[in-house]
Amino acid sequence: MTDNEVETHYTKDGLYQRIMDALVAAGKDTANLQPGDLDAVEHFHGRGMAATAELAENLTPQPGDEILDIGSGVGGPARYFAHTYGCSVTGIDLTAEFCAIARRLNADVGLADKVKIEQGSATNLPFDDARFDAAYSQNVSMNIADKDALFAEAYRVLRPGGLFALSELALADGVRGDEVIYPTPWSADGVYSFLMTEEQTVAAAKNAGFEVMSVTDNVATMRQFYQAQRDAVARHGPPKLGPFILMGDNAKEKGRNAALNVENGLVRPLELVCRRP
Ligand SMILES: C[S@@+](CC[C@H](N)C(=O)[O-])C[C@H]1O[C@@H](n2cnc3c(N)ncnc32)[C@H](O)[C@@H]1O
Repeated sequence: MTDNEVETHYTKDGLYQRIMDALVAAGKDTANLQPGDLDAVEHFHGRGMAATAELAENLTPQPGDEILDIGSGVGGPARYFAHTYGCSVTGIDLTAEFCAIARRLNADVGLADKVKIEQGSATNLPFDDARFDAAYSQNVSMNIADKDALFAEAYRVLRPGGLFALSELALADGVRGDEVIYPTPWSADGVYSFLMTEEQTVAAAKNAGFEVMSVTDNVATMRQFYQAQRDAVARHGPPKLGPFILMGDNAKEKGRNAALNVENGLVRPLELVCRRP
């Protein structure tokens, strides 16, 4: 497994144009995009913007705060934080194409001064010690083998007292990694998928020096979300907009497996809130 395999998995040539085409088909004015126009597409994780909003509430960002988004994707969560709370956000992501799209979308919705994007790895952050007031990472750690480095780097760049919120898909207790059904949104075949149990994730956070303030199990909420999605498709047909646009040709299969893994009790959506003492 290399970082390149992860980047190759996420890279979808021509993606910016496909996003624009989907927005036009959904009736959006792409010459005059507003932050809300992208809501349905740009949050690349289960439960979309609702999950980002809950995570943000846990961090209570203040206007003027400097926030770090580790694995920022096409920048949806970073723009949500900046637009909703008036804070500045720096996003870092491994995938060059996602970084380029994030920068273009920041400019498209008038948030380029509030959201900066850098290409790089979560395990080797190009930032000074204690630079950020808070940090978060949504559905990224599943691709990272070296969880100790992930937590150590998040800890290093946070100021003392700063919070780090991590949401991820954890391996359910007693389940083997090779029982998880692929392809999923984060891995085509499981080769660059590194799921840990809740216990292992909490241990890695503590090992880096974090106090673990809370661990939330979102399995029930996620199951309701998947059922609501199926009901909506049955009533109105497939949606025009969704994070499936970011997932490539086999997006439907990836989405179906994401739901199956949760509904069959193989993986558990978890959110940790950690504090650097
Ligand atoms: C499922 S997407 C989530 C994107 C974003 N956090 C969101 O929720 O909209 C996973 C992202 O993690 C990034 N990623 C994976 N491994 C990474 C690493 N070691 N360092 C930085 N980014 C990474 C990928 O490039 C991809 O953009």
